[in-house]
Amino acid sequence: MTSDSVRSPTASPGWMRWWNRTRYQLYAPIYDWLARPLEEGRKRAIEQVAPSSDDRILILGSGPGSDLEYLPREAEITAVDVVPEMVRRTTSKAGALNMNVDAQVGDVQALPFEDDSFDVVLLHLILSVVPDPKAAAAEAARVLASNGRVSIYDKFVPSGTEPSLLRKALNPLARFLFSDLTRELDPLLSQADLEVVTPRKSSLGGLYTAAVARPIHAVDTGYGTASE
Ligand SMILES: C[S@@+](CC[C@H](N)C(=O)[O-])C[C@H]1O[C@@H](n2cnc3c(N)ncnc32)[C@H](O)[C@@H]1O
Repeated sequence: MTSDSVRSPTASPGWMRWWNRTRYQLYAPIYDWLARPLEEGRKRAIEQVAPSSDDRILILGSGPGSDLEYLPREAEITAVDVVPEMVRRTTSKAGALNMNVDAQVGDVQALPFEDDSFDVVLLHLILSVVPDPKAAAAEAARVLASNGRVSIYDKFVPSGTEPSLLRKALNPLARFLFSDLTRELDPLLSQADLEVVTPRKSSLGGLYTAAVARPIHAVDTGYGTASE
């Protein structure tokens, strides 16, 4: 499948979808280097969601597969990214780690999977990137098993607060180059019937937040109570 034939929602303009793909195509060769400061936060996020070998795991916006080395080698893993070069790099990293990963070109805002297909969904550094984060959260919730869990790791404004003046000032450039600095997590989750069920862990001066979310009516609530 080519990136042009990927199912895309019509909500965002064509130029926005084009630029969203093009910028990450350009970053692909240096992404590992750019994302190195985020590794510790990523590792902690994955530890918190505690994936097991029996889980069906979906990585949304996989990039070059940076999450793979922290996931169980035997798990059934599917990865989706809208940039073919990122998908190629995910496949190559999986091979190097001797992991079996089904990496596909696709749009996280309109996933080609049945409802209830995955036990664990990783939303790492993607909700702040996509033009329509509500659609991405809703799709993550749709394909998640009713007792599944979602690992979230991204830049969000603290819950219930306005973005600071600094964030607002930097946002036009940040949004153009990488990702939005002014998004709040909880409204995205609640419209998808998801809720945070772990304490939120922040890193890099509070810019990044890691948390586990689950369907609001999940039966097993073994992830403790949510608190800041
Ligand atoms: C900031 S990188 C995050 C990569 C990886 N998840 C990580 O944690 O390092 C964002 C990734 O999302 C991909 N992406 C952007 N928009 C997307 C979309 N609509 N559907 C699928 N992937 C998308 C980009 O190609 C890029 O690889």
